[in-house]
Amino acid sequence: MKILAILAVIVASLQVVHSSKILFLAPFNGPSHWFMLKHFIRELTERGHEVTCLTALKFGAKLDNYTEVLIEPPYPLQASFPLSELYNSQSYSSDFNNLFLYWRLGLATSRHGFETANVQNFLKRDDLHFDLVVSEQFFQESWLMFAHKYNAPIVTISTYGYSDFMDRAMGLLTSWSCVPHMLLDYESKMNFFQRVYNVVLSTVDYLVREYYYLPQMNKMAKEFFGGLEKKQGFLPSVQSLEKSISVILINSHPTLAKPRPKMITLVDIAGAHIRPPKPLPHEMKRFMDEAKHGVIYFSLGAYMQSSAMPVEKRLILLKVFSKLKQRVIWKFETDQIENVPDNVMITKWAPQNDILAHEKVVLFISHGGQFGTFESMYHGVPTLFIPFFGDQHRNAIRAVRSGYAAKILFADITEESIHALILELTESNRQYYRRAKEISFLFRDTIANPMNESIFWMEYVIRHKGAPHLKFNGVNYSVVEYLLLDLIACVLLGVVIVIGVVRLFCRRKANKTSDKQKKYE
Ligand SMILES: *[C@@H]1O[C@H](CO)[C@@H](O)[C@H](O)[C@H]1NC(C)=O
Repeated sequence: MKILAILAVIVASLQVVHSSKILFLAPFNGPSHWFMLKHFIRELTERGHEVTCLTALKFGAKLDNYTEVLIEPPYPLQASFPLSELYNSQSYSSDFNNLFLYWRLGLATSRHGFETANVQNFLKRDDLHFDLVVSEQFFQESWLMFAHKYNAPIVTISTYGYSDFMDRAMGLLTSWSCVPHMLLDYESKMNFFQRVYNVVLSTVDYLVREYYYLPQMNKMAKEFFGGLEKKQGFLPSVQSLEKSISVILINSHPTLAKPRPKMITLVDIAGAHIRPPKPLPHEMKRFMDEAKHGVIYFSLGAYMQSSAMPVEKRLILLKVFSKLKQRVIWKFETDQIENVPDNVMITKWAPQNDILAHEKVVLFISHGGQFGTFESMYHGVPTLFIPFFGDQHRNAIRAVRSGYAAKILFADITEESIHALILELTESNRQYYRRAKEISFLFRDTIANPMNESIFWMEYVIRHKGAPHLKFNGVNYSVVEYLLLDLIACVLLGVVIVIGVVRLFCRRKANKTSDKQKKYE
């Protein structure tokens, strides 16, 4: 009896999980982003929370406590951002192009989402209540107005890493003297010219964001939440909503991006999307288990489909793979591939995390997306990067510098060049392998499992109603006040006045003495 009572108490105490209602916003439809966000949704629902998600991509599996509001049709990413262009052009390696690309894409996808029928209907509802808004932090700021509508605190998830504006949302001004812009790869102390470039890029980012991009987002929010103004009165600006974000969970880790000064409400959660490996599909597992010289895994991610690459490059890759003693798993999205060598397995769907976790994997050939990069670091797999756009160049350069990777531009791929790099990474130089294992050890050595830490912060923000006690007062200061520019201006003005008075006084005195001298003459 007693034991039963004790058991009952234990069971009851385990269930003191309060179920909250969470509105999850994922208006950007990049497939890799969604793969990461899904893990948070799954975890939240498994812990008993009710999640309503506005998303362009379906969750797929059945999930309890989950309601989907589908952005249908999804934004035509491929039309505005064609693969053939990405495969053939070098322009996406320009930092300024990449910046403007983010803004353009952000404005277009945010507007597109609002305009679809399901979201329109959702906007009209006023019978709902939410305890927390969780949003992807990816150029969707107008969507933060949902938090105002439901009077709910905000946690955002930055899938791509840090940006200076995240500092500003937490009241911190980034020191451009020693913190490189998010698109730059300066790792060691910046020299004079690097600092100049950093300041120019960061200033352009700041000014365009503040005076063009955010006002556009603001206008969009006012347009789609216009009805709310009549009911709730004054609508806050998107800028002030951004400053009200309670916690930003950032897909970043010091082994890839150097640490930077930060607030406790900017939390590194890289690796949160990595789960313990699941068993591989039978055929794939056998193919890998039986590889005598290891396996090379080749995937250009969910967006840069291998099947869309120019045919001559595909033939080069097949030829090089046929010369290797390793086996190769190639994620290739169609059946239109011929003369596949025996040591190559073509697969439309690849459970990337489970493949990289396999002990036989000796190399990952990747486009350098943030998620795959962390997966290879977590599992300690040397990597050959073929970066295309966005943060991929930066990730590649950082990984090369940390010693476990090499990179090559897609345009530079020839039979000789890529063959030599594969040999270097897998055979002639053991240093890559050793370094990959060291990084894996560092990456896993954390105070808490990053997913658990993420959930902790979301629940914490719910429990403490936005946790305003963690918000740094710097957020209320203008740039002029923050940098003491007003004070410096006052001091300078004072100095000018004093100098003026002194000079006037001296001149008078000089005049007087010369008057006196005149008298004596
Ligand atoms: C994460 O949290 C869950 C649930 O509280 C717990 O069972 C698990 O052991 C935690 N994992 C780690 C690695 O701390």
